[in-house]
Amino acid sequence: MIRGQVSMRRIYFDNNATTPVLPEIFEVMRPFFTEQFGNASSIHQDGQQARAAVERARELVAKLIGARTSEVVFTSGGTEGDNLALFGMVKAGDHVITSTIEHEAILNACKRLEQNGCEVTYVPVDGRCLVNPDDVRRALRPNTKLITVMMANNETGVLQPMAEIGRIAAEADVYFHTDAVQAAGKVPIDVNGIGCDLMSISGHKMNAPKGVGAFYVRKGTLVQPLFYGGKHERSRRAGTENVPGIVALGKAAEFARDGFANGAVERIRELRDRLESTVTSTIEATGVNGDGGPRVPNTANLFFDYIEGEALVIALDLKGIAASTGAACSSGATEPSHVLTAMGLPPERARGSMRFSLGKQTTADEIEYFLSVLPETLARLRELSPVYAGQAK
Ligand SMILES: Cc1ncc(COP(=O)(O)O)c(C=O)c1O
Repeated sequence: MIRGQVSMRRIYFDNNATTPVLPEIFEVMRPFFTEQFGNASSIHQDGQQARAAVERARELVAKLIGARTSEVVFTSGGTEGDNLALFGMVKAGDHVITSTIEHEAILNACKRLEQNGCEVTYVPVDGRCLVNPDDVRRALRPNTKLITVMMANNETGVLQPMAEIGRIAAEADVYFHTDAVQAAGKVPIDVNGIGCDLMSISGHKMNAPKGVGAFYVRKGTLVQPLFYGGKHERSRRAGTENVPGIVALGKAAEFARDGFANGAVERIRELRDRLESTVTSTIEATGVNGDGGPRVPNTANLFFDYIEGEALVIALDLKGIAASTGAACSSGATEPSHVLTAMGLPPERARGSMRFSLGKQTTADEIEYFLSVLPETLARLRELSPVYAGQAK
């Protein structure tokens, strides 16, 4: 406990920022720190034990996304996968198509590519946070090398039309990458159904630890590596494998697949829907951002007019509830979210929005506690708002 802090029940509704490593996943990775600590490239038994564990994890990750095991490359996480897709595929003079609502891992890498002499088109989204595949088609140029559009948005949870974009990419003979960091474990994924050539996944968004991820590379797709070193990961990603992390990611992939079959994911959807419908039906001037499109089941992005989202984050934190105003890396900044702005929300509404992202550990009790403390917390903030005093019914 932080000195001076009173012990209080904590409720974590920020699973799109990161998730806890679930106990059953932690137990599977634990021996790879202390007993089976071999280097997966060593030929002795300790090394071979580590190698077998890495390959087993590769099979489990491949199964989660409908890939062949040889198409899965282990990385350090989503940011690395996104950078690998862009810097590994695109060179000066090439054109890239992406969207305005991508994570900074894509947007800032694209900015860098532009400085390197590449052209980038940022297709817009509509009020539902959806990319129009026709905009992608219209953006194609003779020198288009790569289309990269995220599968699920981290702020709204909205799922993009992957299969349509995949078809456009295939027809145009252009590579297609998707950042599936916020989709993996939340919706079933099939790389062949989507028709993507490259895909990024991150462990810490799906109950594995931080610092591990997977990158899907369709057979026959040549990606230049980001790092030069040993021949790890079939020369596609140099660096000694993070064996405990990889083992955990494999277990998390298995756990995620089970979650689709055993109702765990559906349970999260029911909790999210209860949270959203109760808030929007009982508290005035609230609503759901992005509810017109298909969404991952764990994410609720709500607007609360007449308040600053940051103020509500702090007020709820004092009540023991952790949530956020959007991408974790932009919290603390006063700029309204680039995603909500791209959807056409006025800046005041974007600033008064908050993201509640549930996880496998979320309970119905936690939702009820949140619903019991929200009205008075919000009312207090609204009382302090000069705009609210003038406009409330
Ligand atoms: C959509 C998306 N892409 C990429 C990332 C970066 O992943 P990582 O934290 O594993 O580098 C995140 C993390 O917030 C994300 O939400």
